[in-house]
Amino acid sequence: MPTPGTSMALEVAATLRGRIAHGEFRPGMRLPSERALAARLNVSRVTVVRALTRLRLEGLVVTRHGSGTFVAATDRLLDTIASRPARSPQPGEAGADVLDLRSATTAGPADLAQVIQAACHDDLPAALLGDGATGASPDTLTELLAQHLTRSGLATRPGQLTLTSGATTGLSLVLDVAGPPGGLAVTETPSYPGALRILAQRKRRLRGWRAGAADWDPGDLARLLHAGSPGVLYVQPDGHNPTGATMPPSTREAIGRIAATAGWLVVADETMRPLRLAGDTAASLAAADHRVIVVSSLSKTVWGGLHVGWIRAPAGVTRQLRSAAVATGAGPGALDQITTARLLPSLDSVIQRRTRLLTENLRHLEHRLRGIGQAKLRWHSPAGGVTLWLDLHPRSSHEVVRACARLGVLLEPASTYAVDGRDDRHLRIPFTVPPSTVDRVADALTRVLGSGPT
Ligand SMILES: Cc1ncc(COP(=O)(O)O)c(C=O)c1O
Repeated sequence: MPTPGTSMALEVAATLRGRIAHGEFRPGMRLPSERALAARLNVSRVTVVRALTRLRLEGLVVTRHGSGTFVAATDRLLDTIASRPARSPQPGEAGADVLDLRSATTAGPADLAQVIQAACHDDLPAALLGDGATGASPDTLTELLAQHLTRSGLATRPGQLTLTSGATTGLSLVLDVAGPPGGLAVTETPSYPGALRILAQRKRRLRGWRAGAADWDPGDLARLLHAGSPGVLYVQPDGHNPTGATMPPSTREAIGRIAATAGWLVVADETMRPLRLAGDTAASLAAADHRVIVVSSLSKTVWGGLHVGWIRAPAGVTRQLRSAAVATGAGPGALDQITTARLLPSLDSVIQRRTRLLTENLRHLEHRLRGIGQAKLRWHSPAGGVTLWLDLHPRSSHEVVRACARLGVLLEPASTYAVDGRDDRHLRIPFTVPPSTVDRVADALTRVLGSGPT
């Protein structure tokens, strides 16, 4: 039980955290003095000091002796993601004001800069003597990664890991090296468009298995897998993009059974798995069945600019994957490797911060969506990942996307995520942006949907 003083400090810390998240106190800004904060929040100065100590430990504020306490130029999930106009603005157009939420990107945490600086200072001179493909010794990196995965609940040996430059590179490599020659691929619908593209590029005929909180029916999967010659099943069991859903444990168990009897290769994309926002973490598909191949990366948990991913596969397949990775240059570069080797021991705390901020952003988004009205919008609260999947029925996704674009908010229509391209009733909303930016999306939706049928 916290003492009364401690719980008051926790409350003050939560209040200040909220004000930072809402943009009242912006990154780099000096906070009011301890005395002024105490007066403003009607608490003692000791309570403010305790709250600030907590925020300092979380990396949200920094104290510079003699000048005061500042909001850290901190995890950029607090910032608006960079807006990227659909095309270069024409003279006189306010292109810079466009909010582009078509990709659910997370900006890098600011303290990554310190990790990169330390890696460059301490480790780069030795790496420069090497071939550039191996920065940290690959053995060190796979060892650290295996430890991290094992700590996260998936017992992993270094000999099961192949380093890649990302999860999608990993998926391509797996399909080329280990995919059965048959032309079929089954994947969830809706699904991550990058994976759909990779499967289509390899001329695999795609079949969609309905995914999401209310779907993932093992009976449907059995019918799909037994309908043709064995192929590849690509799934995202956790923090599914775009629905944010988590696959129930019973479905996870069924996948292994069904795929084994039908002879299919199962690839589980666990890129979003660490970004768990609600409920318990279910066991990885690979924990129950060693044949399941996992692809993952640091691009969502840390930053898309850090090109480090991995494939976890049986040791025999890993030997083939590693030589294919060397032959095709599919591994991470030396700079990314030395950075990651330094980052991995503290990755858990980076992930904790990310999930806390994502949870706050999501809470605000859901609050605003409820304000628009249940009659117009329905959704399952995402259990993980970075996106919410809105059911707009009876409104058309394409129409809503067009109307939002006219208001300067760019989103992708549902058809982008559908295996057959035929969904027109959903809308994906990333909640990688902070509450002040969520408001812009919600305001646009309120204006667009406010004029439509209820
Ligand atoms: C499910 C999923 N897997 C993989 C990726 C991309 O991973 P990487 O950048 O490491 O290729 C994304 C990006 O949105 C994704 O949503």
